[in-house]
Amino acid sequence: MNVSHMLTNRVQSMEESATLKMSAKARELKTKFDDVISLSLGEPDFDTPEHIKAFAVQALADGYTKYTPVTGLVEYRKAIQTKFKRDNDLEYGMDEIIVSNGAKQSISNICQAIVQEGDEVIVFSPYWVSYSDIVGLAGGVMVPIKADIEQDFKVTAEQLEKAITPRTKAILFSSPCNPSGSVFTKEELEDLARVISMHKNILVIADEIYEYINFGKKHFSIGAIDSLAGRVATVNGMAKGFAMTGWRLGYMGGPAWLVKACAKLQGQVTSGANAFGQKAASQALLADLGPTMKMKEAFAIRRELVINLFKNIPGIKCNDPKGAFYVFPDISEYFGKSDGHITINSSEDFCEAILENTHVALVPGIAFGNGNCFRLSYAASEENLTDAIGRIKKYLSSFK
Ligand SMILES: Cc1ncc(COP(=O)(O)O)c(C=O)c1O
Repeated sequence: MNVSHMLTNRVQSMEESATLKMSAKARELKTKFDDVISLSLGEPDFDTPEHIKAFAVQALADGYTKYTPVTGLVEYRKAIQTKFKRDNDLEYGMDEIIVSNGAKQSISNICQAIVQEGDEVIVFSPYWVSYSDIVGLAGGVMVPIKADIEQDFKVTAEQLEKAITPRTKAILFSSPCNPSGSVFTKEELEDLARVISMHKNILVIADEIYEYINFGKKHFSIGAIDSLAGRVATVNGMAKGFAMTGWRLGYMGGPAWLVKACAKLQGQVTSGANAFGQKAASQALLADLGPTMKMKEAFAIRRELVINLFKNIPGIKCNDPKGAFYVFPDISEYFGKSDGHITINSSEDFCEAILENTHVALVPGIAFGNGNCFRLSYAASEENLTDAIGRIKKYLSSFK
């Protein structure tokens, strides 16, 4: 069979996820060496808190084993509504909330619902790897706006203004950001909102999946800004803040017309998310957030550790992220330098050399739209982080 004839152009033009590619390489290396440390995955290394697992066990015993409404269990949507009000000052009605199989599906649903062939979707760069393929699969053109380390990887209102065209359909970004960990302040979001509010036919897709992993001021949601009323889809989920990546539960609050369109789409593709997980998640959102805050505190300690270790490596400029569990250091000073065998000319060269010579897996920044950087996930033990960065330092000292 001619496979390339069988496969659609759509799928053939998709990129394999760079983070998954790197972890596959690390796994392969692990079969040969027992000292491989993978700092490439975007997943908390904690297990789901015990009380949430107990909620799921109880939900199964109580018969939450059937299809749920496509938009989600009423009790879960009510809990989400309460959470939006409690944490984000967002007032979404019950017809303005939909549950999906992860925040990823929420974002994909939105893009499938609103992006026509050739529409532009502005994405703040560096961006989460999946944004480009989600936009591309919907037929859209991703328009990245680049923000470098000097501006803390945060796009300004002036940059946004310049990027908007009559074809702009949506603006998509994450805050706290994967991969940079940067967090937009309320004032910065208000500046962006002033620009967006002048363009009435643009939807904002605010990916707030890392909301609870925020080391600075209280998280602020762009959807709470009055001038953008009815034009913000706020995406969130259980994966990161509750260490529930494998549960596949995400949700979106947004205008009723958008929720209706996403429900139509999801109803024909995946239906509602899993029943007992939704029941447990509804309780998790309303229960004590202590375990979530404990995980955040552990991430905060590792963050300090990682930043301090990188400070001692010449030629690496490390950012000072206020959220998520990543650092996104700039390594462009190493370009053109060699360890005697390999000359580094890109973030991919850098990560490959590090993996081969130190057995530490990182992700090249180019996968996130910034080829001067790499992403390190500090969802790992302090011992492994210290060991890994120590190895990197030692290896880089051989570069000339
Ligand atoms: C910025 C961002 N948004 C969304 C997701 C996906 O979340 P979920 O697991 O709920 O689909 C991730 C996961 O890595 C992410 O980093």
